Amino acid sequence: MIKSGFVAILLIALFSYLFVIQKIKKESKHQNQNQTKEQKSKDLKLSLEYINSTEYLKSYIIDVINSGSRGLNFKGGIMEGGFASKEDAPKIACYVMSLSGRECKEPYSKDASMFYSSICAGCHGMDGKGIHGTYPDLTRPKLLGIKKKEEELLKQIKR
Ligand code: HEC
Repeated sequence: MIKSGFVAILLIALFSYLFVIQKIKKESKHQNQNQTKEQKSKDLKLSLEYINSTEYLKSYIIDVINSGSRGLNFKGGIMEGGFASKEDAPKIACYVMSLSGRECKEPYSKDASMFYSSICAGCHGMDGKGIHGTYPDLTRPKLLGIKKKEEELLKQIKR
């Protein structure tokens, strides 16, 4: 009689122990999920800040020079990449930024301005303002490709 009472108590103790462990595990999993969600939205906000920086503007222009641009719906069609060498692309990007008074850490070289005038200006104009509807304006406060990317990020943040 005493023996079976003892076994029953032991069993109850064991079950409640397992129950508590299970609960703690569940809670910490929930917390982890919340943390990764928070981290994700933090990361998204950080990248939103980054794509609005001059640093990103420069890397975007370099990317367009190297890989071209498509999907912005201009009558001029798509822009092919590779007009300039990979070494020259950053300098030309700095020159493009200077057209709207934006500063690059390193100043653009004379070669870059000459390259722009002889190659890029054919479509985007000497002043970078393009031709409305045909070639994009490179001096607008936010370039279209960057605006597109920002809109995508905002959608992700809302989700
Ligand atoms: C033959 C005409 C042509 C030449 C030359 C040209 N581009 Fe373009 N560029 C375009 C067109 C058209 C687009 C838009 C294409 C699209 O995405 O639909 C464009 C897009 C761009 C964009 C993206 C604009 C935005 O608002 O996001 C940048 C930056 C750019 N060009 C820089 C340059 C630079 C720098 C050069 C010189 C190395 C250059 N382009 C030479 C026609 C040209």
